[in-house]
Amino acid sequence: MSRVQLEIFFGMILITITGAILIFLGINEEQRMAEFDKFQAAQKIEVGAELYEINCRGCHGLQGEGVLGLAPPLNDAYFFNGRLAEVGWQGDLEDYIIATVSTGRQVSTRPEQYPGAGTPAMPTWSDRFGGPLRADQIEALAAFIINWEATAKGEVELAEIPSAIPGIEDLDDPLARGLALYNASGCAGCHAITGISVGAVGPDLTTIGTTAAARVEGYTAEEYIRESIINPSAYIVEGYDDLMLKTFVETISEGELDDLVAFLLAQE
Ligand code: HEC
Ligand code: HEC
Repeated sequence: MSRVQLEIFFGMILITITGAILIFLGINEEQRMAEFDKFQAAQKIEVGAELYEINCRGCHGLQGEGVLGLAPPLNDAYFFNGRLAEVGWQGDLEDYIIATVSTGRQVSTRPEQYPGAGTPAMPTWSDRFGGPLRADQIEALAAFIINWEATAKGEVELAEIPSAIPGIEDLDDPLARGLALYNASGCAGCHAITGISVGAVGPDLTTIGTTAAARVEGYTAEEYIRESIINPSAYIVEGYDDLMLKTFVETISEGELDDLVAFLLAQE
């Protein structure tokens, strides 16, 4: 081979090697990007889970199992397979979740089963419409809910809002009865008390025994708390909407109410 031929020969080998390296890197880059996408999707679901815990769990249940007499399940097979057809939604499920959550729902479509908190049945969540959440947060919530599809059951067991709660009246201590009622009646899903519950739909009740006295002029702390439970719309705490359940007046007995009030008065 002449020198020129040799140079061409080695030049071509060099080009081939460079090309192979580039192809190799390119393939890896694709993999890297795919992994990054997966990581981002997982992060989104995690953010959604945190938001759900704070804002949605009080009505839709810890695992999206729904609460009879309050709000529908979001993790049953019907929500993923039948619900869009029932409401005549044209887009996909992600769009339906984002649209519904963003605007809230003024009136429940199934008022006998899931009346929600009255009017609106579900509050508006998007900050575009006066709610507390940004668009990316609502997308994260949708990702979290859609992630339930893989494990969605044919029929979920709805949590119930219990009326008479067996066992509670056997407790001797009124404060223990009050605590049990607080957990069993769904208060814990919407309210936080340090060390007891983390609900955030309504105000933190950790010091309600003290703050209640200053809420409404002429009311003692006890009178205020009692009315807050049986007639929640009478006074709306600043910064909150009228979202508390209105049915406790029917589902909680006089004696149970006394215990609940005593328990809340003791939260100072
Ligand atoms: C005050 C109680 C309440 C809270 C809090 C609440 N929801 Fe709802 N939600 C409802 C009710 C009531 C409906 C309407 C049910 C109907 O129309 O049959 C509903 C409907 C929905 C739907 C449509 C379900 C369907 O089958 O059509 C989605 C999705 C949803 N909520 C997600 C959320 C998310 C996410 C959050 C938290 C950011 C949330 N909800 C917080 C009460 C609530
Ligand atoms: C669906 C969510 C929800 C449930 C369930 C719920 N609450 Fe509330 N609660 C709220 C909201 C929202 C407010 C603030 C608006 C208002 O003043 O009505 C509130 C307000 C209160 C207040 C007044 C707090 C203050 O700082 O002045 C008390 C007391 C209270 N709730 C007790 C209870 C008890 C006891 C239960 C259970 C028997 C309960 N709530 C169940 C959402 C809820």
